[in-house]
Amino acid sequence: MAFAYRAGALCAEQVSLEEIARQFGTPCYVYSRAAIEGNFERFANALAGRKSLIAYSVKANSNLAVLGLMARLGAGFDIVSGGELARVLAAGGDPRKVVFSGVGKTQAEIEQALRAGILCLNLESEAELERVSATAARLGVRAPVAFRVNPDVDAKTHPYISTGLKDNKFGVAYADAERVYRDAARHKNLELVGIGCHIGSQLTSAAPFIDAAARILALTEKLAQSGIVLSHIDLGGGFGIRYRDETPAPVSQFVDGALGVLAGRSETLIVDPGRSIVGDAGVLLTRVEYLKPGESKNFVVVDAAMNDLIRPALYGAWHELRQVREAESGAVAGVYDVVGPICESADFLARERNLAVRPGSLLAVMSAGAYGMVMSSNYNTRPRPAEVMVSGTRAVLVRERETVNQLFAAERLLP
Ligand code: LLP
Repeated sequence: MAFAYRAGALCAEQVSLEEIARQFGTPCYVYSRAAIEGNFERFANALAGRKSLIAYSVKANSNLAVLGLMARLGAGFDIVSGGELARVLAAGGDPRKVVFSGVGKTQAEIEQALRAGILCLNLESEAELERVSATAARLGVRAPVAFRVNPDVDAKTHPYISTGLKDNKFGVAYADAERVYRDAARHKNLELVGIGCHIGSQLTSAAPFIDAAARILALTEKLAQSGIVLSHIDLGGGFGIRYRDETPAPVSQFVDGALGVLAGRSETLIVDPGRSIVGDAGVLLTRVEYLKPGESKNFVVVDAAMNDLIRPALYGAWHELRQVREAESGAVAGVYDVVGPICESADFLARERNLAVRPGSLLAVMSAGAYGMVMSSNYNTRPRPAEVMVSGTRAVLVRERETVNQLFAAERLLP
């Protein structure tokens, strides 16, 4: 267990979160290296013996230390911007293991990716195909491409993070896929290397993922009949984790299901997990500032806010909250909404939780390692939190807390 109580205090591996708060301040993201590595190993084990690539989805947590760990484990990377590509390279990632997704790649990003020599650009529209082809021609290279195809299966997840149905902005329609591949095959500056899909995030059942695999495979076979032979199939990410009482199918069930569908095929299988690698490997550590009892509700006001972790405000996401000290003197037990200092009613981290706390108590917002820090903002001119990586008995600062001066250093007063 990456986060467990020792002598009454919640620890990250062997380091108490109290010690981390003392050393690095709050709010602060704390990650467990062993948890990240363990989560990666589950994919590696499930895929052992199969030509495959685990392309960690950088958007989930793009701290250089996390990317560096992934690179050392042999991971590839799923990126969605030139910025993410720069991070991957800065962290020692191998560009030949990078797949670039996203509906809005700019000219500059396409050039950057082609110059870096990435594995594949996942095209999401015909307009993008034209742009990539023209860019490759100008640079005198062949651009390795795949199409992200929308398999039109219902991932049965939150509508904001469901991406595989035909009425959303991602990918090319299943019905158009053969035609766009045939068009692409006529572009001499494009090399058709693969096919991809991603049906959504936080999937708890493997069935839609396996359905999508079957539909993508059927297309791959049809394409082969018309002479378009692809070397990889990218089934995306989306493997769910437990935040509350979800019972996500284990990674092995997703992977085994896909391997079953792809049995006897020679294509490399690519998966791009994000949340399932880093989600439960991180917490947001925050300190209680005030208790504010009220007529109909009691509030705990903490020093973290929606700018640090927006998932509750944006998706109504539920994150478990743990007291860092199991029991402390002077704590007031009650049912509390845990809110931040930001001037928005949506600024809450948790609602109606049983807690026994007092000003100064520390709380850990659990499973905040994915889509936490990366979605943070500076709203209300709040410097973003520090990030700390724990390994065994060592806690290392992997991102300094922002300072207020940094926040407006790039701004100018009018002359
Ligand atoms: N591959 C592609 C093409 C994606 O669009 C995504 C996520 C992933 C992989 C990784 O999905 P994961 O394994 O992490 O579920 N901010 C939301 C999640 C947005 C996911 C967007 N795409 C949240 O906080 O729940």
